[in-house]
Amino acid sequence: MLSARSKHKVVVLGAGVIGLTCALSLVERGYIVHVIARDLPEDTDSQSFASPWAGANICPFKSIEDGPREANWETATYKKISEFIPSGLAIALKGTRRFVRTEEEFLGHWYKDVMPNYRRLEKSECPEGALGVSFDTLSVNAPKYCQYLANELRRKGVTIERRYVRDIEEVFGCFGGVGMVVNATGLGAKSIAGVDDQAVRPIRGQTVLIKSDCLRCTMDSSDPNSSAYIIPRPGGEVICGGSYGVDDWDLSVSPSHATRILSHCLRLDPSISRDGTLEGIEIIRDNVGLRPSRSSGPRVESETIKLEAGGRESPIRVTKTGERRGGEREGTVVHAYGVGPAGYQQSWGIAEDVVGLVEEAARTSGKKRESKL
Ligand code: FAD
Ligand code: LAC
Repeated sequence: MLSARSKHKVVVLGAGVIGLTCALSLVERGYIVHVIARDLPEDTDSQSFASPWAGANICPFKSIEDGPREANWETATYKKISEFIPSGLAIALKGTRRFVRTEEEFLGHWYKDVMPNYRRLEKSECPEGALGVSFDTLSVNAPKYCQYLANELRRKGVTIERRYVRDIEEVFGCFGGVGMVVNATGLGAKSIAGVDDQAVRPIRGQTVLIKSDCLRCTMDSSDPNSSAYIIPRPGGEVICGGSYGVDDWDLSVSPSHATRILSHCLRLDPSISRDGTLEGIEIIRDNVGLRPSRSSGPRVESETIKLEAGGRESPIRVTKTGERRGGEREGTVVHAYGVGPAGYQQSWGIAEDVVGLVEEAARTSGKKRESKL
């Protein structure tokens, strides 16, 4: 239960792109926020979280029928990240996406009204049997973007604490005691006691980071045996991807995957190489990251939990009629995890929903408090 004094305090658990964006949105709405996480944005080499390893572009995967929530999140995020183009934090890209004919639903996709210059590709622009679209998109440099978000938070007075959490209840005892926690723990949601979400699963992604001034973003899933993408990002770098290994926890680089990725990307756009050959590609590093996915889709919802220990005390009071009230301890967890391959492109939309859920929970607990007086 929230007391009047702590009504505006929220702890955000997780400092990947989702936790950081939620924290920033909450601060901008007047909440007093503390961020706790095992991995922080400066840990750019840590494979224990997904955020440093993303492309990170906006290329919607779902049709409106499949994912109306995702469509809203991505629409909001596209608008918001576009605002970062003038500062150089994001760059504008010409995007093309090719897919197999059975994915015809991607034609006339909802984002045709959101992303400028959307058009269907001509037959001559696609491999035999494939379809495609082009549109204006954008990308950010994932690790630098997360560090920007963290710096913004610190500038606004938010404290960011490195801490490993075993049990979600622990978090209610942090920051002087809070009644509201945002759970943005990605794959962590599988093993944190009190969350234990077994629908959470990794999708392993291997990529190759190269040096290149290419500004064309190419996503190709037209070949059922090999998908690939080229995602340029600010700073003259390009992420060549990728692989999607569901339930694969292997964090090591597969050299054969890397060669497959670069060969496919070179076919898509020879300009990523100095001289059009594999040897002419200037490799910076090979990467592997685990996308925090969830079988039933992202979890963005609030949950009221009974706190056995460690939460805020709710003192026992005796009413005029002699009835004992209070003594129970409750907390609200607003979950925001399981975003799989789309954390960046959905981040600002998810954060808006999280703010809405936090506000709703604060109103409900305010009413409960009033009814007890
Ligand atoms: P994470 O980044 O995993 O962060 C989880 C946070 O929770 C971390 O701070 C972690 O330390 C903390 N945590 C977990 N458990 C605990 C615990 N017990 N105690 C304390 N803290 C804990 N997305 C896009 O939108 N566009 C792209 O182009 C794109 N490309 C990608 C390419 C690759 C190769 C990969 C791997 C991913 C890509 N993604 C892309 C997906 C994107 O990276 C993820 O969706 C996003 O980073 C998930 O963010 P998150 O904040 O939910 O989780
Ligand atoms: C990925 C990007 C393309 O997950 O979203 O690899």
